[in-house]
Amino acid sequence: MLDTETVRLAYHVLMGREPANERLVANLTRGCDDIRQLRNRLMSLPEFQQKLGASISIGVRLQQAPKPAVEVEVAPGILEQLLEHVETVWRRFGETEPHWSVLTNQRYLQDNLSANLDEFYASGEKDVQRFRWATERAGIAFDGLRDCLELGSGVGRVTLWLARAFERVVGADISASHLAVAERELTARDIRNIDFRRVASVTALDALPQCGAFYSVITLQHSPPPVMRLVLEKALGRLRPGGVGHFQLPTQILEYSFDAEAFLAGQATEKAMEHHCLPQPTVFETIERSGCRVLECVQDTLSRPNKISNTFTVQKVGGA
Ligand SMILES: C[S@@+](CC[C@H](N)C(=O)[O-])C[C@H]1O[C@@H](n2cnc3c(N)ncnc32)[C@H](O)[C@@H]1O
Repeated sequence: MLDTETVRLAYHVLMGREPANERLVANLTRGCDDIRQLRNRLMSLPEFQQKLGASISIGVRLQQAPKPAVEVEVAPGILEQLLEHVETVWRRFGETEPHWSVLTNQRYLQDNLSANLDEFYASGEKDVQRFRWATERAGIAFDGLRDCLELGSGVGRVTLWLARAFERVVGADISASHLAVAERELTARDIRNIDFRRVASVTALDALPQCGAFYSVITLQHSPPPVMRLVLEKALGRLRPGGVGHFQLPTQILEYSFDAEAFLAGQATEKAMEHHCLPQPTVFETIERSGCRVLECVQDTLSRPNKISNTFTVQKVGGA
């Protein structure tokens, strides 16, 4: 026998809204003996079928989409303006809601944080596990990589676990305010093998040290395509021969286009959290230009009906 709360919750999850009235909830509760029956009943409703059809057709539209109008190469002056824009947006987030800006869940707003801080930092462990599994799937010993450059270290959520897996970690971020929180939080956890670096310019990116590993997740997507391409190339360029890079970024968004000058004059003035993508051909070209080869490219769990997100695992050519 099902209870009304379960029925209400299942309805909300599958339909994306509250049931229209109590009679409907009562009918479903009485009419279904168990969760399986409830699921079948809800999934056969025309409203659910329509939603399913809509998300399948978005997938088909992504597959059928023409070459996107995404500007990936811009003049140095424009690139500087784009970098400056990303720096301003993220520094401001770091000054107001640093943890929420990393995982946008209400539990991580400053007002709710103290009860949820441990859970926030614990969540980074599985990210490093995925890095380990992908490396080992490719037949490479993860423990032999020694040191790791993390791009977009944020408030240290994953950095904490990278620091436990590697002898030394470089935590690079464009935002000084995120770096300050990360340093404070990880020092409080007695983690001392991290070198935090602010990377808000080409010069700072060029000054990053060489490493045996490169890692980045939910970071590149917040930079316009020319910045994504630049930062990715610089970071992959810091891998030692034989070193492994593991990074996530969206490669396709339905109806997405990017024109740098229009962006600077329009969307950039809002200083909000943005989501961009870098088309796969450009990602592969950047990997190649950085002297790396692809070990694995998978569609990851950050994909949405209107967006494809990929995680790439690559290796710098020339190692043993
Ligand atoms: C959503 S948070 C993710 C932080 C961390 N990767 C995690 O998963 O916990 C994105 C971080 O990337 C940083 N960031 C955004 N664009 C960047 C860029 N172009 N270069 C370096 N850091 C960047 C932001 O300042 C922010 O700290």
